[in-house]
Amino acid sequence: MKAVRFDRYGGPEVLRVAEVPRPAPRPDQVLVEVVSAALNPGEIGIREGVFARIWPARFPEGQGNDFSGVVTEVGAEVGDVTPGQHVLGFAPRAAQAEFVAVDATALAPKPSGLGWDEAATVAGAGATAWAAVAAVDPRPGETVVVSAAAGGVGSFAAQLAAWRGARVIGTAGDGNLEFLASLGMTPVRYGPGLLDRIREVAPAGVDAYIDTFGAGNVDTAVALGVPPHRINTNADGQAVRRYGVRGDAQEQANTPRIWAELATLAAQGHLTIPNTRGYPLGEVAAAYRDLATRHVRGKRVLHVMAPGRRAGLV
Ligand SMILES: NC(=O)c1ccc[n+]([C@@H]2O[C@H](COP(=O)([O-])OP(=O)(O)OC[C@H]3O[C@@H](n4cnc5c(N)ncnc54)[C@H](OP(=O)(O)O)[C@@H]3O)[C@@H](O)[C@H]2O)c1
Repeated sequence: MKAVRFDRYGGPEVLRVAEVPRPAPRPDQVLVEVVSAALNPGEIGIREGVFARIWPARFPEGQGNDFSGVVTEVGAEVGDVTPGQHVLGFAPRAAQAEFVAVDATALAPKPSGLGWDEAATVAGAGATAWAAVAAVDPRPGETVVVSAAAGGVGSFAAQLAAWRGARVIGTAGDGNLEFLASLGMTPVRYGPGLLDRIREVAPAGVDAYIDTFGAGNVDTAVALGVPPHRINTNADGQAVRRYGVRGDAQEQANTPRIWAELATLAAQGHLTIPNTRGYPLGEVAAAYRDLATRHVRGKRVLHVMAPGRRAGLV
């Protein structure tokens, strides 16, 4: 099968699509033919070697985590998953490949009303956002700020906070302010003067703050008077240590039950998953160059399954 591999730490140029053996599922696993696999900024840090001490690579290293696909084979001990089922899940450092072997209990069904690209983002950015929202626990009528609210995690988090009844102030650059408004948020431009702009649109104060970007957002939240237990960041470990704020992320929502709830919300139209671009598997390096700008709206995904076959899926 074809799979993304890299043999040394470096920029996107180290990424290649290799021919490798198809994984064989254990008796408690299933084999999934991947349709779409998502891209996440953390994978850039792993590939560049920034996280080599905590999350080292084992070369030749695979890449990709969250995916959507079709079950093609089930292990002898698997009872409740059958070939042909449409699923989504999380296969660490393995999802950008034509096939992944995953535990049968680590999958959620893909609802028919949810697209393949959107489904591929649920177990990564979706679950990360779910954890962030759960950490700050927004209540109806409260005001919540979400930073980088047009990004992968931010766009999920903002909508989940609104789904709980909160008023959401989202931050973005000029090019995304209208987009935030279209998702029902009060848009505010990030950058110098952010604190004053938030105070202007929230004169009665801010109850909770979800940071998905870093770059001083937690300082802003603290300056607004938001209590530490109602601030979450998945992008600024130093701020977690400095202020004692929450740092909940994907690990805290890594369950098929949560993935299934997110997928259902999206399929029912309560959650918009903005996928502005899908790349063919062979263009994986270009896809990561795009993501690395850190100015993408929504998500970037790889179309792992060839378009002709993908179009024939029912
Ligand atoms: N630990 C985990 O489990 C986990 C999982 C997933 C993600 N994460 C982390 O969460 C963070 C967000 O990931 P993501 O996928 O949402 O990233 P992303 O989609 O790449 O974020 C892009 C967004 O960031 C905005 N942005 C750019 N510069 C900004 C600034 N100076 N201030 C505020 N916003 C700015 C952009 O808005 P404009 O285009 O409008 O400029 C864009 O919409 C990353 O640090 C990632 O590593 C952690």
